[in-house]
Amino acid sequence: MLPAAMNPKLRAMVVGATGVAGQQFVAALSGHPFFSLARLCASERSAGRSYRESLRDERGSLRWYAGGQPPAEALELPVESAKEATTDGIDLVFSAVESDVAKELEPRLAAQVPVFSTASAFRYEPDVPILLPGVNRSHAALLRTQQRRRGFRGFIAPGPNCTTVGLAITLQPILRHFGLSRVVMTSLQSVSGAGRSPGVSALDIIDNIIPFIPGEEEKVERETRKILGACLGDGTDGLHIEPLAVAISCTCTRVAVLDGHTEAVFCATTRPAPIDEVKAALLEFGQELGALKLPSLPQQLIAVTDDPYRPQPRLDRELGGGLTTVVGRLRPERALGEHGVKYVLLSHNTKMGAAQGAILTAEQLLIDGYLG
Ligand SMILES: NC(=O)c1ccc[n+]([C@@H]2O[C@H](COP(=O)([O-])OP(=O)(O)OC[C@H]3O[C@@H](n4cnc5c(N)ncnc54)[C@H](OP(=O)(O)O)[C@@H]3O)[C@@H](O)[C@H]2O)c1
Repeated sequence: MLPAAMNPKLRAMVVGATGVAGQQFVAALSGHPFFSLARLCASERSAGRSYRESLRDERGSLRWYAGGQPPAEALELPVESAKEATTDGIDLVFSAVESDVAKELEPRLAAQVPVFSTASAFRYEPDVPILLPGVNRSHAALLRTQQRRRGFRGFIAPGPNCTTVGLAITLQPILRHFGLSRVVMTSLQSVSGAGRSPGVSALDIIDNIIPFIPGEEEKVERETRKILGACLGDGTDGLHIEPLAVAISCTCTRVAVLDGHTEAVFCATTRPAPIDEVKAALLEFGQELGALKLPSLPQQLIAVTDDPYRPQPRLDRELGGGLTTVVGRLRPERALGEHGVKYVLLSHNTKMGAAQGAILTAEQLLIDGYLG
């Protein structure tokens, strides 16, 4: 079990600190009992200014998207150029940059310290697990293989794509209790999921639905199979992940919602899946993590609502501080196979789907002995 607080705390550097996901890291690290915010990095456009100044646009308005006010202690920190960033004086990195930037930057930093990433750059490499709290704790062992193969003192630990998060979390208890043979999912993804630059233009999204998000469907299908797969092998040959052999088919769309991805999920199960038993399996999922006392762990990883008009992004996305996946509209599914279940889920894309999810993973790896 973790202590209530650490003294001294592990010093964190946030890369991409000015962006939508990076701001969530800055907000969530403020007052964190184990990690302190030590350094901030962004592009050369922001470097050389204080965090406060780097958030201001040309009209002087503070572009803060993480809710409330930015933490006072962060505002006067200098923003450094990620290009020249070193690991001096830090113990770990939270990275929230686009994949092309992450490709070069993250291995350089991981050579020295652990890097928790929201980017997709390394998710599909054979020695990189995609860690999701409560779902695949055993996959963390692959980090040792990664360290050995790449000569890293740290490691790269990416989280899943924000759309994968709610899907994989809800599929895991269904897989465990009822088996899975086929999954079909259609997402209605929020605008913040596209980030700030270039983001989605208001002219394109208001009064509209955009039926295509490039690369997203392939990412969600591939990542879900990897996350739900088995970590196999031994310490001699190194470990690898055998993806789950289940057909998954996704359609991903962008809708005029600020935060929170909604997904309609249809599952064929290999065994009968009575709705009251599915509900119980979802509700009890992740309860074993409670004993670890992880500071960011919500009371429930999955909440289930019986109200047929929920979940709704505006009403439900902040449940559990934005870390709880909310499931509603649980019904039997018979079109895909003999047995099955269908439901609608809501997952906060910038919180559980990005920064807070990565911090929860870091807490888990701390207790499991990977951070020191
Ligand atoms: N938004 C979400 O809901 C979400 C969820 C899960 C995962 N992610 C992933 O998180 C990452 C960041 O996404 P985002 O939505 O936060 O994007 P964003 O709002 O556009 O922010 C991008 C960040 O990257 C920095 N940056 C840009 N070019 C850089 C460079 N060459 N070197 C160093 N830093 C650079 C920007 O700094 P400047 O301000 O200086 O330009 C900014 O801090 C992406 O990989 C995305 O796929 C996002």
